[in-house]
Amino acid sequence: MLASGVCHSDLHVRDGEWDRPTPIVMGHEGAGIVEAVGPGVESPRVGEMVALAWLIPCGVCRSCRRGRTWECPDSPSYRHTLLDGETAFRGVRSYCAIATMAEASVVPADAAIPLPEGVDPGAAALIGCCVTTGVGAVMKTAAVPAGSTVAVIGLGGVGLSCVMGAVVAGASRIVAIDRVPAKLDAARGVGATDTLLADGDATSTVAALRDMTDGGPDFVFEAIGRPSTVELAIAALPVGGTAVLVGMTPVGERAAFEVYPFVDGARRIIGSNYGSAEPAIDFPRYAGWVLDGRLPVDSLIDRRIGLDDVEDAFQQMREGRFVRQVIEF
Ligand SMILES: NC(=O)c1ccc[n+]([C@@H]2O[C@H](COP(=O)([O-])OP(=O)(O)OC[C@H]3O[C@@H](n4cnc5c(N)ncnc54)[C@H](O)[C@@H]3O)[C@@H](O)[C@H]2O)c1
Ligand SMILES: [Zn+2]
Ligand SMILES: [Zn+2]
Repeated sequence: MLASGVCHSDLHVRDGEWDRPTPIVMGHEGAGIVEAVGPGVESPRVGEMVALAWLIPCGVCRSCRRGRTWECPDSPSYRHTLLDGETAFRGVRSYCAIATMAEASVVPADAAIPLPEGVDPGAAALIGCCVTTGVGAVMKTAAVPAGSTVAVIGLGGVGLSCVMGAVVAGASRIVAIDRVPAKLDAARGVGATDTLLADGDATSTVAALRDMTDGGPDFVFEAIGRPSTVELAIAALPVGGTAVLVGMTPVGERAAFEVYPFVDGARRIIGSNYGSAEPAIDFPRYAGWVLDGRLPVDSLIDRRIGLDDVEDAFQQMREGRFVRQVIEF
């Protein structure tokens, strides 16, 4: 392993907000060099740099048969073992079958996607989760048309990747929203046209957002995973607007919205899992955009740490500090 990002999904598990089998080696946003391959494996090859995909399709379920592999509910990744049900670390599970918070890992061959040469290992790691999740939510799940107005609520690695995706999609206005002022600067740095500090009540945030976007943004991306901000995303929609839910709440949480105006105004809510990713196609494509400067992923990495610092990294994340902390090996 060369690098592993620290994603809020790791923190959800760490803090018991999602129930996962233990003991488990965490981490699902990583890149490394292939040291050895199993019998019959043609790709990747030994020596290649790969980014790791955290969702390997089962290949047989209804979603997989339709080619919508990012929806696969039966993915072996959700069992946190290798494909044969064995564990790579002697009885200890591998989060999403890849366990990137480790110096070395054993992963399914299909999870290891070779990248073009020249990509920084930290950026390669981020392609494994937050970049693919955010850019894909905008460009694939929602397929935002050029000229649309977009708002992004929550500016961690996932939300800033939504901002970058909105730039590539040709959005006319991109309003970036967070409660931490430094995150607004980071968003401007990757192409947000406007920013909004969400330090007041939701009503005033919605009113300010409507003012900035001629009555409300065509698309609102929620990239936090709190019922209050999910409700904010839906409340801010203009007639015909779409809320795209990317952030993931603790299991069991509910959100509410007023039904009549939602239906009357033909509004929509979409859930986006893994940015509708087809990793073998999308990872090299996004890597190409990193290399030609269209996706300034390097600028998301604002702290490089060692594996021993991971508990501190989680605490920083709880407090809303840093965009993306990356463990380097
Ligand atoms: N849908 C998917 O496939 C997918 C994939 C990866 C991550 N996620 C989820 O996306 C979410 C974001 O992940 P991340 O790693 O970017 O998280 P992060 O913790 O780095 O970023 C969250 C941001 O939200 C801000 N924030 C928190 N509460 C706020 C509030 N009330 N108002 C305004 N801003 C607020 C924080 O300041 C921070 O900047 C998580 O829930 C994660 O589990 C989903
Ligand atoms: Zn993640
Ligand atoms: Zn499947």
